[in-house]
Amino acid sequence: MFGLLGHTTTTTGVVIVVVLFAARMLLRTGLGRRPSGPRGAGPRSQAGEPSRTAQGVAAVRAELTRPHSAGGDPDAARRLAAGLPAGRAEQLRPLLAVRTAFFDEQTRAAIARGVPQVVILGAGYDDRALRFRSPGVQFIEVDQPGTQADKRQRLQALLTPADRLMLVPADFTSERIDSVLALAGHDAGRDSLFLCEGVLVYLPSEAVATLLTGLAHRATPASLLAVSLSTGGPSAGQGPWRRPPGEAWRTTLPADQYLDVLRHCGWRPIDTIDPATRDPALQSGQSLLVTAEPAPGGRA
Ligand SMILES: C[S@@+](CC[C@H](N)C(=O)[O-])C[C@H]1O[C@@H](n2cnc3c(N)ncnc32)[C@H](O)[C@@H]1O
Repeated sequence: MFGLLGHTTTTTGVVIVVVLFAARMLLRTGLGRRPSGPRGAGPRSQAGEPSRTAQGVAAVRAELTRPHSAGGDPDAARRLAAGLPAGRAEQLRPLLAVRTAFFDEQTRAAIARGVPQVVILGAGYDDRALRFRSPGVQFIEVDQPGTQADKRQRLQALLTPADRLMLVPADFTSERIDSVLALAGHDAGRDSLFLCEGVLVYLPSEAVATLLTGLAHRATPASLLAVSLSTGGPSAGQGPWRRPPGEAWRTTLPADQYLDVLRHCGWRPIDTIDPATRDPALQSGQSLLVTAEPAPGGRA
């Protein structure tokens, strides 16, 4: 019944997982908890369209100077983002520079200590599977289908080895990440680094909790979560208050409350960084970069 893999395409080295519609419908409607938010009320880009915010971030990031692994592609971001408009993301350049450095360092450090799986949630045009390509390391990217379709085409055009990259389409407002990852072949018995960069703010608060809890269910004790939190602006109940086309900000919380959400969802924060401490031009208190480990005994 769970015909998991419709097919696996390896023609360009990109492994594309296509999950059968029937399995998805079961996930959405039958098995396990369903996020309480209404379907379709989530922070979607225009139906089926690639995320414009992801494109803008990718265009800005393509111009940053960044590290890469020995076998990695230092030019991956520029090539992946070719022709993408920076748009309003241009104004976020200083923040994106600090944030990108944080997530790059988390990725580099995890690979250096032998973590075999890097799971990127709301991956957009993230290039780390190419930039930090390393023997034995599997990258799994999860995002909405519209963004992934464009990303997949771009990857294919690059003709670059990406045989350790799996693209898994999912919508965090209507699907449980633990089920999605299990179906995709993520190994919950091996260590993972989970990256949530610039994505939680686009989810309603109940989907944030469902996502974080689901990731905790897939984490070994030595797994790690790296996440950016939006901590400035009105409370979650007042969102959405910013409306780039189709992609409203929905969840922002004071830092203390957000860290409590993490704890409640099974994560123990071990380090927090206000980006303003890395670049004085940034306003303090607007966002937080957090690393967290699975809480002993699970959820608080
Ligand atoms: C600002 S972009 C960040 C992309 C990437 N993490 C980066 O930093 O370049 C936000 C990403 O979250 C994804 N996203 C937003 N809502 C989502 C949802 N409900 N389910 C899955 N992905 C979602 C978007 O498609 C987009 O790729």
